[in-house]
Order: sequence, then C-alpha cells, then structure tokens
Amino acid sequence: MPISSPRPADVPAALDLITAAQQAPAWACAYLGTEREGIRAELEDLTPPWTETLRVLVSGDQVVGAVAVDWDEETGRSWVQGPWTSDKTTWVEHGRALLEAAIAQTPEGVDDHEMSADPAHVGMAALAEGLGWHRSAVNIAYEAESDEGWPDAGSAGPQPRRATPDDTGALAALHTEAFPSTYATGRQLVEDDGRITLVLDGGAGELLGYASAEVQADGGGYLDFIAIAPGARGRGLSKVLLASVGRTILAASSDGKVSLTVKEDNAAAVALYESFGFTRAGALVGYRSRPYQG
Ligand SMILES: CC(C)(COP(=O)(O)OP(=O)(O)OC[C@H]1O[C@@H](n2cnc3c(N)ncnc32)[C@H](O)[C@@H]1OP(=O)(O)O)[C@@H](O)C(=O)NCCC(=O)NCCS
Repeated sequence: MPISSPRPADVPAALDLITAAQQAPAWACAYLGTEREGIRAELEDLTPPWTETLRVLVSGDQVVGAVAVDWDEETGRSWVQGPWTSDKTTWVEHGRALLEAAIAQTPEGVDDHEMSADPAHVGMAALAEGLGWHRSAVNIAYEAESDEGWPDAGSAGPQPRRATPDDTGALAALHTEAFPSTYATGRQLVEDDGRITLVLDGGAGELLGYASAEVQADGGGYLDFIAIAPGARGRGLSKVLLASVGRTILAASSDGKVSLTVKEDNAAAVALYESFGFTRAGALVGYRSRPYQG
C-alpha cells in the first residue's frame, strides 16, 4: 500500500480515522484531544497547514493510516502528529513508513523529531525503540475547571505582571535552567502575542519567577511553564503566580478549563497542583530522536 498526499476526500476520512484513534488511549497521540472538532481545530492551527503535511495510507477507498507533522526552524524541532492506523496489523506493517513519510517533509536543519503518546500505546513505544529514539519520563496531565480554593494574590509581596521585552534575558536564563529540553525559547514566550506570560519581579532587575500559558486552538487553556528562581523557592511564591496565570487563562479559555502536564517525579510541582485542586486527566510519554535533558 503506498503512502501518499491526500486526495480531497481523504482529508475528512483521515479526520474520522484520527478521531477514532484519539478516543482510545492505546492508539492516541498525546498532542491532540478526543473530540472531532477540537482535533480539527488543533490540526488546523499547525504550521505548515496539516492538509499539506498529511500523508495517508489508502486501502481500496478507505483511509487506513494517517500522519502529519509540524516544525519550528528556529529550534530545529519537529512534532509528528500520529501516526494513526485503523488496526494493529496496519500499524505493524506501515507505522514506521508513515512516521518516515512525516519526517521526510521536514526542512534541512530540522533534525530533532518528537512524537508523544499515552504510556498504554505500546505500538508507539516499540516504533520509537526500533528507531533508537529516546523515551521521556512519564508526564501526568492535570486539569482544573474552577479557581475555587485558590489563594488570593494578597497585597503583600511581589505581584505578577505581564512580561515585557526587558524581561527576556532573565526569563530565558531561568527558562533554560528549569526546562532544558523544552519546545519554546524564552524569547518566544515573551514575544508571542497569543500567550499570557507573567513574571514575578523582585525589583532591581531580579526575576523571581515566570509562568506562561495560552489558549489552544480547541479553546482550552494550557499552562506550559511555571518556574520560581532556585534561590526563591520554598517561600510560597509559586502559589501567587499559579493563581494569577491560572485565573487569567481560565477566563480566556472558551471551555472554562486549564490543563498542564508535569513529570510524575516532580514532587514539588505535583504537590502544588494537587493543593490547587487540579485532577489527573491522563498520562503521556514523549519519544524523541535526540536525548532528553533534565
Ligand atoms: C515547582 C515550583 C514552581 C514550586 O515553587 P516554590 O515557590 O518553590 O513553591 P512554594 O513555596 O510556592 O510552595 C507551594 C506548594 O508547592 C509544594 N511544594 C513546593 N516545594 C515543595 C517541595 N520541595 N516538596 C514538596 N512539595 C513542595 C507544596 O504543596 C507547597 O505548598 P505548602 O508550602 O503549602 O505545602 C518550583 O519548585 C520550581 O520552579 N521548580 C522548577 C520548575 C518546575 O518544575 N516547574 C513545574 C513544571 S510543571
């Protein structure tokens, strides 16, 4: 069966296949949700457009496999969306070829590829292992639907404010220290107008912490990053920052939800989120062509 660019009718058929796979943790790619319209919105938000990078496997007139990819030339990284297949046999026979069809589209200089799945997706784990890719720690997905019980900002102590270009240097340094292996640069967090990036300013040029969130294409709020400077940890500062960024993103989201992911062994962060009433919504593992750091 050849893997090809989609004919017009293959695009909705691929979306049906993707939606069915996304609803089964053992077959889902962790970047997308489970609802057809939300998945479509997330895919349509990719750069380049997903309909350009979509590759399909067609049997008769049925789409039985699909994959897409997006990338960032600044960081040299790509994120493979999928692959997805209609069944296990198709996965075993064509999963790797689908992945390779996605990667083959990435431009020169983009050579750090990643895909992500629920730990239950053993096929994805086997595919990554066969390629010699690296496995991340297990990450827990958390979500909250209200700010009930979250602390008020209070009047004492530093208050979060929007990041400005003047914060870029200090924010980028803390970002690299706290998230050495991540997908966005500190500069991108400050400059991306679509994001809510807050800082806790200690005065005299000292950055005590930052947090960055965005409303995703499916309307859900997502907290990507929160960190307190190493010398300022353990003083309760993360609570002020989390409450502030969390409330802002809850208000901006169209579904009244904020979600995030955290490494399951990050005890401080897990305790912080659980103390805010975030509940576990799932688990995910990344598979990456380059080693994960930190
Ligand atoms: C996670 C992090 C933001 C917490 O910031 P902090 O300012 O040190 O935390 P706070 O002092 O505000 O504590 C808030 C809550 O977090 C939890 N917590 C913080 N440090 C903890 C620790 N060492 N062990 C266990 N729980 C801890 C507690 O629930 C605490 O509430 P409590 O004091 O009422 O018990 C900080 O450790 C950090 O920047 N880590 C590196 C970046 C990171 O991992 N970010 C989260 C990624 S998803």
